[in-house]
Amino acid sequence: MTTTENPLGIKRFDHVEFYVDDAEKWANYHVEKFGLYKRAYGNKSTGLEGRYAILCGQGRVNLLFVEAQGDSEEAEAIRAHVGKHGCGVKDIAFRVKDAAVAIKHCQDMGCDVVRPLDEHEVFKGASIAVYGDTTHTFIERKQHDTFAPGYVNLAVGIEDSEIVFNRIDHIVANVENMQEWVDFYARVFGLNQKGFFDIQTGRSSLLSKVVGDDDFIKMPINEPSSKNSQIQEFLDIYEGPGVQHIALMTSDIVASIGEMRRQEVEFLYVPDNYYDAVPGRCGEIHENLDELRRLNILVDRDREDGYLLQLFTKPIFERPTFFYEIIQRRGNSEGFGEGNFQALFESIEREQEIRGTL
Ligand SMILES: [Fe+2]
Repeated sequence: MTTTENPLGIKRFDHVEFYVDDAEKWANYHVEKFGLYKRAYGNKSTGLEGRYAILCGQGRVNLLFVEAQGDSEEAEAIRAHVGKHGCGVKDIAFRVKDAAVAIKHCQDMGCDVVRPLDEHEVFKGASIAVYGDTTHTFIERKQHDTFAPGYVNLAVGIEDSEIVFNRIDHIVANVENMQEWVDFYARVFGLNQKGFFDIQTGRSSLLSKVVGDDDFIKMPINEPSSKNSQIQEFLDIYEGPGVQHIALMTSDIVASIGEMRRQEVEFLYVPDNYYDAVPGRCGEIHENLDELRRLNILVDRDREDGYLLQLFTKPIFERPTFFYEIIQRRGNSEGFGEGNFQALFESIEREQEIRGTL
């Protein structure tokens, strides 16, 4: 199923909302280790019911960390989510032209609307249920000086971290039935299938299809194709489908990873001999190969006139489910590091081996 229209009027990712055990702790983690800035917060005193939430961001990256407060229905729902899944992504919010049009379209398509249109003068939002307990929100903004009703801005000062993030490049879901969700995003979002991967690493395997538009939305969807697949491990440990990783786009991966390593962010291990094959695989690149080797940054050429640099963190929360990818694209790169999947999965499997699940 392919379509080129944009029935929801999506412009780009607006923000990602995490339900966590400790909003302050995880906001501080992203400030210290990812160079994000605290941009806004909300709680009972600012007019939010049931939650304490801190927005951290840089560039067009905005991540909201939410913990339960009090004993309202909202607070209990957050607590139940964290109890079942551990810390993780609850909602992917999309910026749209017209939130009323978007949610009406979702209703017409038979989606489960979990939050009806919330209308304020400069902000409108509404949400639908998607895979597992994850939701999608459609947000329309008329002014951009406040995050959402009930939130108060924080003064961030000068944004001059050594770590640079521009925007979210892609967000990856792990589900039980990939095709069901590829069809969903085609039918409801009008997103086209951009790629298909069948990854085998000998001991574990997964299938992945990418849905996206021609601009800022790219969402790979994975399903396990063997019992000990890392996707199956995610489904077991997270207790259902959910967001596996967010790829943060940087315009300077060498400086960013260098600083993140100084801040002791843990990344997946890359075998040293990986770099011997890079010149043959990727041809000429801007970066110094020794520096990439020192920082363990992966390289993949996906087009004649484009390549990407990427690296994956270890899972950041207590349960080994969610992680980040740091990605820089050069030229007309539009892949996901297919050539690195092998290296990535071998790395993940070394981690699985240590945990004893393989
Ligand atoms: Fe990725």
